[in-house]
Amino acid sequence: MIFESHAHYDDQRFDPDREELLLSMGEHGIETIINVGSDLEGVKKTLSLAGQYEFVYGAVGIHPSDISDLDEEVYGWLKEQCSLPKVVAVGEIGLDYYWEKEDGAKSSQRYWFCRQMELAREVGLPVIIHSRDAAEDTLKLMQGIHGEQIPGVVHCFSYSPEMAKEYVKMGYYIGIGGVVTFKNAKKLKETAAAIPLGHILLETDCPYLSPEPERGKRNSSCNLPYVAKEIANIRGISYEEVVEATRENARRLFTKVK
Ligand code: NI
Repeated sequence: MIFESHAHYDDQRFDPDREELLLSMGEHGIETIINVGSDLEGVKKTLSLAGQYEFVYGAVGIHPSDISDLDEEVYGWLKEQCSLPKVVAVGEIGLDYYWEKEDGAKSSQRYWFCRQMELAREVGLPVIIHSRDAAEDTLKLMQGIHGEQIPGVVHCFSYSPEMAKEYVKMGYYIGIGGVVTFKNAKKLKETAAAIPLGHILLETDCPYLSPEPERGKRNSSCNLPYVAKEIANIRGISYEEVVEATRENARRLFTKVK
């Protein structure tokens, strides 16, 4: 059975059929799903989905593009949610310089990324990191706060294989999703081959980033077999081995998952 480590079923694109889709996950071989909050509203919806479905767990955190949602009060509230039994991670948090080019705003992103890393350290939860067009700053910042002491995953990994190895050295997992099936995703295919299988997690980031042959359509966890098959091809191992190893990896990282 597949462990889906990063989904956004709170997204409005699932409004028409969310219930039906989630109830079909078992038939599609999906055992566990982590729904990841990105803005404050998304975190609230994540908590309610985790309450509603036994196999859905939640990550609470504010995405770098949504840090305008954050202040001390919200931060304190996020911290309280971390003690709920079904909240298994802090995320997604990080840096996104693709959507943000302005220096002052980038510096706020760094501030709240640090704060939310410290939150994870305090509550003893792993982190789910989003990093886009900010490779150098993300690594520097994490090294500066002894990020290697906080377990976590760099989700939707988009940097070089060399950078992936740096994170693996820090003990981090690398989240691989639909992009690995794209013909032009040379770097990610190299990364999927270069890092130890024991550090790979399967993820969709749905509704975004559908794998081939569903590229361009709304994504869901039901498409994860395409991702696992591609990783198996790249590494020359069986599909079952990829599914089993990534499931074990996720359960090792997200220790609150039952
Ligand atoms: Ni995401």
